[in-house]
Amino acid sequence: MARFRGFPKMPPIAVLVSITLLLARAMAQIPVIPDPCAGYDHPPTGTGLLNGRNDFPPGFVFGTATSAYQVEGAANTSCRGPSVWDKFAHEFPERIADGSNGDEAIDMYNLFREDIQRMKYMNVDAYRLSISWSRVIPYGKRSTGVNRKGIQFYHTIIDLLLENGIEPYVTIWHWDTPQALEAEYGGFLSSNIVDDFEDYCDLLFEEYGKKVTKWITLNEPVTYVMRGYDEGLMAPGRCSVWVNRACLAGNSGTEPYIVTHNLLLAHAAGYRLYQQKYKASQGGEVGITIVTFWFVPYTDTPADRDAAKRSIDFMFGWYMDPITYGRYPQNMIDLVGTRLPTFNDEQSASLTGSYDFLGLNYYTAYYSMNNPNFDPQHLEYLKDSHTITTATGVNGKLIGPQLGSSWQYLYPQGLQYLLNYTKDEYRNPHIYITENGLSQEDDPTQTIEEATKDDARIQFYDSHLDSVLQSMTGYNVNVSGFFAWSFADNYEWNDGYSVRFGFYYIDYTDGELTRYPKSSACWYTNFLNRNAPTGQTLIRQTPNKLEARPAARRSAAALGGRRGLSRW
Ligand SMILES: *[C@@H]1O[C@H](CO)[C@@H](O)[C@H](O)[C@H]1NC(C)=O
Ligand SMILES: *[C@@H]1O[C@H](CO)[C@@H](O)[C@H](O)[C@H]1NC(C)=O
Ligand SMILES: *[C@@H]1O[C@H](CO)[C@@H](O)[C@H](O)[C@H]1NC(C)=O
Repeated sequence: MARFRGFPKMPPIAVLVSITLLLARAMAQIPVIPDPCAGYDHPPTGTGLLNGRNDFPPGFVFGTATSAYQVEGAANTSCRGPSVWDKFAHEFPERIADGSNGDEAIDMYNLFREDIQRMKYMNVDAYRLSISWSRVIPYGKRSTGVNRKGIQFYHTIIDLLLENGIEPYVTIWHWDTPQALEAEYGGFLSSNIVDDFEDYCDLLFEEYGKKVTKWITLNEPVTYVMRGYDEGLMAPGRCSVWVNRACLAGNSGTEPYIVTHNLLLAHAAGYRLYQQKYKASQGGEVGITIVTFWFVPYTDTPADRDAAKRSIDFMFGWYMDPITYGRYPQNMIDLVGTRLPTFNDEQSASLTGSYDFLGLNYYTAYYSMNNPNFDPQHLEYLKDSHTITTATGVNGKLIGPQLGSSWQYLYPQGLQYLLNYTKDEYRNPHIYITENGLSQEDDPTQTIEEATKDDARIQFYDSHLDSVLQSMTGYNVNVSGFFAWSFADNYEWNDGYSVRFGFYYIDYTDGELTRYPKSSACWYTNFLNRNAPTGQTLIRQTPNKLEARPAARRSAAALGGRRGLSRW
């Protein structure tokens, strides 16, 4: 051990300056985050169904979630290449509700240090983030070059999370396919993508696998396929012209099936690669995130019960059956016929059981009824299930109270049904809820003070968490974690910045993207307090004044482009 020799010969003033600079740097690295509960005499409480994290088994993981394109910004920084979303948002601003794009998003590329402190303050155990493929491999193929600056960026984030006791759950692909691969061979329309995706996974496992033990290959493939290849509302914006005149190319009756097929094969390739090359040394787990609505039969008749089952199979079973049993649901084989690709034996074997855990995203529910009027001249994925979905029941009442966006209805029991169903249908998988959250339309007439009072979001989380707990205690569903979508408001794809999902309100108008904690941020902070006793009931009170100022003023003009869930 070297003997301590004191400071190198430096005049005392220089020593002082160095220490001050070091301290200043340390402080810049560890920003002080205001208490999200400042301004409350009594913190806001939920429905009273739950007290806090200690209602759940020890070790249950609570987190928040985001995705790269929705939060990072820095679209052109440090050699990042474009993804299909950069291209889509720039080329077709009229297909985005407010004409916006993710060039800056909420600038987490630069503000992540503060944001990680906010998460730590919230007492989260984990943070689900995604890696931008074209930030680490700008032109998609590993042979065209790896971007070390991009690689380093995620090392920095992952290290900082771990230093703060927050476990990273990393999504490998969250819809942002590199544009270079789209241009070269049509992205996920081509089976060429499978090898490039596998190489990309290999790079991530190799780089980050000693630090990251929870991997999610794909996020919500059904949304990418439905919105991007049937309706043409999201990148890459393809569809049949009779579905959406804005589409320049596509086929809503065939491409969704081809793209899903290649997504599934890419997922299996990533999963098997980890098993063969990394599992033994790194000991992590690889899963996939699937979203579905819950579907309730419109009437209690065999025809509508079958319809609801078909709706679930076309949205959920389309992915769950292949990754569990190595084949598509029989419903889909019967109805889609030759437009549905088939797996050969090797592919089927590779897909069967290809997840260590299942990520489930749940937001809302609809009624499903049998559609006897099928038009064979206009083939489209969304019609192939021979169902019509609606939020209004046979009694004329909505399935649940309509929430802050036109497509979302409060139906927390749907999450419980879904968990029960998943356990029964898919061999009792190990489940994380990887997303759940409330969408609220931005109201430019509200002050920030008003917009940050989001009691509805607290009720939403509380009731859905209660559903999760009921499925665990009442039906032994194996759920190990819950990720709230989202940490902060962010770029909501074709809704742009016009809807808000966050615990933190983002001021998009002040030039600094200032974060303001909503009431729900305070609620989650208390809910996740590791020492909170159970059985304690908090008193609800309104928050004291936050500085009142005009909220975001964004043109709501383009709302005509908003997606309509009426097509469901
Ligand atoms: C990033 O580059 C694209 C072109 O590739 C351009 O359209 C866009 O405006 C750039 N964004 C920023 C924030 O500089
Ligand atoms: C889930 O299953 C449990 C046990 O059968 C039951 O108590 C509960 O009501 C079910 N929940 C739903 C929503 O089906
Ligand atoms: C849940 O799944 C994990 C991973 O497969 C397993 O280790 C654990 O024993 C399961 N728990 C229950 C209660 O089944």
